[in-house]
Amino acid sequence: MAIQTWDEIHKQLDEAVAHIRKTIDSTPKVGIILGTGLGSLVDGIEMTGTVGYETIPHFPVSTVESHAGRLLFGKLRGKDVVAMQGRFHFYEGYSFQQIAFPVRVMKKLGMETLVVSNAAGGMNPNFVAGDIMLIKDHINFFPGNPLIGPNDDSWGDRFPDMYEVYNRKYLAMAKAVAIEQGLRMQEGVYVGLTGPCLETAAEYRMLRGFGADAVGMSTVPEVITAHHQKNRILAFSIITDMGLPDNMHPCSLDDVIGTASKTEPKLRDLIAGCVERMDV
Ligand code: HPA
Repeated sequence: MAIQTWDEIHKQLDEAVAHIRKTIDSTPKVGIILGTGLGSLVDGIEMTGTVGYETIPHFPVSTVESHAGRLLFGKLRGKDVVAMQGRFHFYEGYSFQQIAFPVRVMKKLGMETLVVSNAAGGMNPNFVAGDIMLIKDHINFFPGNPLIGPNDDSWGDRFPDMYEVYNRKYLAMAKAVAIEQGLRMQEGVYVGLTGPCLETAAEYRMLRGFGADAVGMSTVPEVITAHHQKNRILAFSIITDMGLPDNMHPCSLDDVIGTASKTEPKLRDLIAGCVERMDV
């Protein structure tokens, strides 16, 4: 797809927001992106309305079966939130601009903070499948970036620095909430790459050598988009499988989704506890 001008992007965003505003009148300060197998993380949200992706002008449509494909609006621990139930991956064939679009729509709806979840392969040998990892930094290993193309300086910087992408106060808050909930939580660096193959042993070894603790196929494009538009970011991985180069074993999508679903209630409570404490 050709790179769009910001005039085009704003026009499409305004049309998408106008459609959503026909049925939704909340101003969600917190946006939540739900990862693979994590769709029912929304169970704790008192729902006030939903909008199917397929009805929103210019919105990409989810193709992965495990993703429902709707924006869900409601209250989580008293805060107005919007959750993306179903996200868009580069491996599905979406462009980075398409992946960025919903994140920009949420900003136009009022989002100040983005909470992201994903399923990821663990590479830090101290991790086990079923762990939750607080993302403290990332490596962009995608062959691109949603900010390539013209820039709207009123929307975000041409050359955003990557200082404190993952909000420091929120990192401390998440650790405090995890301790309060008696939850074992890891912290680490997420490397995002295209997929859809999982990694070879040689690739896990390389990525670990680069300093990454977990690897997955999402999150980085959305986080870059949110950081550009000056959102605060809090992100978690569920470690669904271990990618240890000297201990490789088969891993199926069922394994990934099964572990994600089993760990989901813990992550749901953790996210709810964090949202409750957010100063938005
Ligand atoms: N690699 C890449 N993405 C993943 C993995 C993995 O091992 N597990 C879940 N998502």
